[in-house]
Amino acid sequence: MKRLLHATAAMAALVGLALSPAQAKEMKMGLITPPPHIWTKEAEAFAEELKAATNGKHTVVVYPSRQLGNEAEVLQQMQSGAVDMAFMTLAEISNRVPEFSALFTPFLVKNNAEAVKLLKTSPTAKALLDTLPSKVGVVGLGYGMAGVRQIVSAVPIKSIADLKGRKIRVTPFPATRDFNTILGTAPTPMPLPDVYDALSNGQVDAIEMDLELTIKLKYWELAKTVLVSNQMMFPMVGIVSGRTWRDLSADERKTVSELMRKHLDVVLDKTEEIERAFLPQLKEKEGLEVLEVGQEFYGDALAEWEKIWLPQAPAIPALRKEAAAL
Ligand code: BEZ
Repeated sequence: MKRLLHATAAMAALVGLALSPAQAKEMKMGLITPPPHIWTKEAEAFAEELKAATNGKHTVVVYPSRQLGNEAEVLQQMQSGAVDMAFMTLAEISNRVPEFSALFTPFLVKNNAEAVKLLKTSPTAKALLDTLPSKVGVVGLGYGMAGVRQIVSAVPIKSIADLKGRKIRVTPFPATRDFNTILGTAPTPMPLPDVYDALSNGQVDAIEMDLELTIKLKYWELAKTVLVSNQMMFPMVGIVSGRTWRDLSADERKTVSELMRKHLDVVLDKTEEIERAFLPQLKEKEGLEVLEVGQEFYGDALAEWEKIWLPQAPAIPALRKEAAAL
């Protein structure tokens, strides 16, 4: 009898908690963005709606501003199940899974509107997300983004030669490091909270940034030129720890997916809207030149970048095809 009981318990453990209703849980969600940022606001809106949809059974506490650590640390905690969810830059994901760097192909899209369409509809981007459970131990539910990358420079820029040898702040990930190295700049990896001081005290000459934060965090005040080239997308992913996911019932997974996707879509749409409104505002700032350029400004840097990245990120041609058809 004892043996039979043991066997039954072992079987129940094997099939997991799917047989029993998921335990009520207070979940932790980590972000690096500060409270007023659109990613944080939509994470909080998602948490509220999840609580209502599960009649208070599942609650999510949102920790902004790296309170749970930097993104590498958050990802590690998600693998152990200590953190349940995150809105995380694709930069960090691409540090773990180089294939995602295909989404950082320079000039893959022309502007934020195209970035939104591609991230919402691309089967190739979706297929990359589907690799996250086996490669990282997290479930990718969808994409968000920050605005496409521009260069905000404390030294005037007229041509690409003006960037040579200049220290440029980049978010730490290899795709952008290589693009900058090809351009002859000195890429200087730095997390967001350090950027303002570094640009004001001359630790860096320029920064890679979106227009939203250029205005909201007042980087433009330190700049002589904003080079608006839309050089690279800056996607984000909504992810759930594989352990947390395993403990949710099928219905709860559906609810979490639908609500998170809804708020990721809001992030995409609002980011596009804000960035579109901010370009004319930036053009009105006194003493600031806004230089709008195309891919030709960068010479053959894109071809050089692809030579390095095509073997590591084989989805590049499929993404290019999808982007061209938008
Ligand atoms: C950045 O590192 O530049 C960044 C990170 C999150 C949101 C926007 C920008």
